[in-house]
Amino acid sequence: MAGRIPQEFINDLLDRIDVSEVIGARLELKRAGKEFKGLCPFHGEKTPSFHVVPEKGFYHCFGCGVHGTALTFLLEHDRQEFVQAVETLAAMAGVEVPREAGVVRKNDRRSALFAVLERADRWFQLQLRQHPERARAVEYLKGRGLTGATAKRFGIGYAPPGYENLLKAMGGGQTLEQQLIEAGLLASRDSGGSYDRFRDRITFPIRDGRGRTIGFGGRVLGDGQPKYLNSPETPVFHKGRELYGLWECRQALRDPERVLLVEGYMDVVGLSQAGVPEACAALGTAATADHLEKLFRLAPEVVLCFDGDAAGRRAAWKAAQLALDALNDGVSVRVLFLPDGEDPDSLVAKEGAEAFRARVAQAEALSSYLFRTLGEGLDLALLDDRSRLAHRARPLLERIPGQLVKTLMYQRLAEITALPQGALEAAPVDAYADGPIPEDPLESEGPLEVRRREPAPARGRVRRERAERALALLLKRPDLADAVAESALVALSEHRSEAGQLLAELLTILQQSPGLSASALLGRYVGTDAHERLLRLASAPLPFEGSALTTEFGELLGHLQVEGETEKRRALLERIRTGQAQDGDLDAFLALKRAAAGVDPQAS
Ligand code: UTP
Ligand code: MN
Repeated sequence: MAGRIPQEFINDLLDRIDVSEVIGARLELKRAGKEFKGLCPFHGEKTPSFHVVPEKGFYHCFGCGVHGTALTFLLEHDRQEFVQAVETLAAMAGVEVPREAGVVRKNDRRSALFAVLERADRWFQLQLRQHPERARAVEYLKGRGLTGATAKRFGIGYAPPGYENLLKAMGGGQTLEQQLIEAGLLASRDSGGSYDRFRDRITFPIRDGRGRTIGFGGRVLGDGQPKYLNSPETPVFHKGRELYGLWECRQALRDPERVLLVEGYMDVVGLSQAGVPEACAALGTAATADHLEKLFRLAPEVVLCFDGDAAGRRAAWKAAQLALDALNDGVSVRVLFLPDGEDPDSLVAKEGAEAFRARVAQAEALSSYLFRTLGEGLDLALLDDRSRLAHRARPLLERIPGQLVKTLMYQRLAEITALPQGALEAAPVDAYADGPIPEDPLESEGPLEVRRREPAPARGRVRRERAERALALLLKRPDLADAVAESALVALSEHRSEAGQLLAELLTILQQSPGLSASALLGRYVGTDAHERLLRLASAPLPFEGSALTTEFGELLGHLQVEGETEKRRALLERIRTGQAQDGDLDAFLALKRAAAGVDPQAS
């Protein structure tokens, strides 16, 4: 596979190419001193306002504002693809387009890892059939009711006892040893050398979306500790992103209506054997929004399964909050609590698939679970408590990316609190980033306890995605910049995501050169890190056009502005707290605080 075209090459190429030669071959240009002038090909005009400046390598139209390099001209005017345009220019300069070897080498390294993981996988499975001590492993699995067919379907195997099996069995050698270490199958010794990570354990291969083995879980054959050992993070295995059983589920069902998210390896295996193949597990970590998005690609409904005990209820509350970040229109989430002391594996073994499915069918909708949990300890007959519930719910509902679900959730909140929906949606969301919403209302002592907390990674991701979405919309419709207020721009430049900063920059450029086209805008970034990101966003498909697009852009900017202002407020507060405040910091902080509380800063 061809690698990336190195950015340096493109920069050099643009340096060497005469932009007037590229454009002159396509338009009639007249020399005017050091520049060339012609009729702008991007808007209709009778007097030439299109300037080409060979010395600087760009063109600019004083009529419509288009601006760019030889490369953007080919993209915009000839509508060439990016690679094709680079090749056109390279041909003019008489040079070959190099490809970055790094990418290819990286791919080679990854395929080498996939290959050793695959071989190890087969070897572990073989040991379950052939190893002299296989009987204990087989007995253990039989004791848990597992059939041979299930073991085969999930590739379950056995890592035999001993520290030096795998490398030897796979042929030895330093290269292989390095690869096995990198794949997480061998651990290195401080004194040099390495040893088997999985010893005397049942192995569960973890497969990626294409069915390639990327890591393993290993269970002790009894009561030892740790009960499960997992592969470490490797270049091909990232715990927070992968789901155990996802590939097997997709093999069993083409188009499942729903998918269950359970906790354990054996839950997935046990459910599947009992006839409920639509289950996946996060790998010993709490579910992430990434996990949920993966699940939503498989089925439109996710049912989160938890133990009925306190730990299960805590885990459920965390997962439900995260689920909000992945709640797009058209998908749904439900929450299922199992009887205390049971997990899906034990329960389905006890009562069978039918009864288990009946429980799933009665799982509680996320909205109901959410409002019920938030309302715990509150008396909704009391006015204060109703407002408290609204206050608690607001920052959570604001996390929902799906506009329709979000509206429905607000409708429900309006019903419960007897507050008008408009008022709920218009109230400031101070709590959005650092407010008084307790992390866990099940645990908190007081309903409005203020707790500082680290920003959750998911929230950072939501921020970034919002900013990226806004960028994508802006690249589609640069004129959206016209309506953006100065205050929004100022707030955006405080936004913590890189995408947010980039958005602020683009908006500033567009406001300074109204009418600038998207590709002219892109042209300004050729040779910078942002270029590729912008190209990718510019080509992202957008589901709708016209006024819906304008509305969405407005909403996104509203969010981003609040986020930016919150950032700014935090930074100011930190400076004030630590005695590093500069002149005006306190005033700025108070003004932002008032603005966030919905008080007009001009009025006071
Ligand atoms: P559980 O302790 O609930 O185990 O861990 P389980 O899945 O019911 O296992 P069995 O039935 O006793 O075999 C749930 C999940 O948490 C992770 C594993 O992914 C496990 O499947 N875990 C648990 C670990 O990673 N390490 C551990 O030591 C224990
Ligand atoms: Mn279990």
